[in-house]
Amino acid sequence: MHIDIISIQPGLLESPFQHSIMKRASDKGLLSIAIHDLRPFGLGKYKQIDDYQYGGGAGMVMMCEPLSNCIESLQQEKKYDEVIYMTPDGGTLNQSMANQLSLSQSLLIICGHYKGIDQRIRDMYVTKEISIGDYVLSGGELAAAVLVDSIGRLLPGVLNDGSSALSDSFQDNLLAPPVYTRPAEFKGAKVPDILLSGHEAKIDAWRYEQSIERTKRLRPDLLGE
Ligand code: ADE
Repeated sequence: MHIDIISIQPGLLESPFQHSIMKRASDKGLLSIAIHDLRPFGLGKYKQIDDYQYGGGAGMVMMCEPLSNCIESLQQEKKYDEVIYMTPDGGTLNQSMANQLSLSQSLLIICGHYKGIDQRIRDMYVTKEISIGDYVLSGGELAAAVLVDSIGRLLPGVLNDGSSALSDSFQDNLLAPPVYTRPAEFKGAKVPDILLSGHEAKIDAWRYEQSIERTKRLRPDLLGE
């Protein structure tokens, strides 16, 4: 999969993809990410990219021309499955959205700043608007990093244990069961006997029960309750 990201703060996106699972994904050639600085597409001597909003009101708006020129120059090179705009008024990111996007070949993500981008860019180019939660960040970069991480770890071959993404919380709309590692007893607290029993079917059943119990207690909304 290839992901292009348009940003006015490219430095904010450098670190998240250079560590851990995202780094492994790119080292293995399973995911390539290119960050494109919008500034060189800015207008005039000062490479302007934002302007006051029509109708008045506080906050600047990212202008049409720089974004349009940047998007179109990328579209000349690639056909995108989705052109995504990170915005607090988009649909809230969830596991099924990440699963679906992980099937794409190529994505373009636009990070907004200030009051956001001119509506005409949304109307003309954007095919999907995504929020990472009901709060406002100072820009779309951190949201884009969250989105790319949630997608990248699902690509076949990225995680060492191929089945591990499937047992995450939210796959099947259930929270994951509790997990334990050595030692079997820590400060008097013991690992549940069933996990030491070696009985695979009983362990699976116990994990499923725990998932249901946790989901009912902590996130009943996931069960439609
Ligand atoms: N940009 C600013 N806030 C955001 C949010 N909550 N989700 C996605 N993009 C954003």
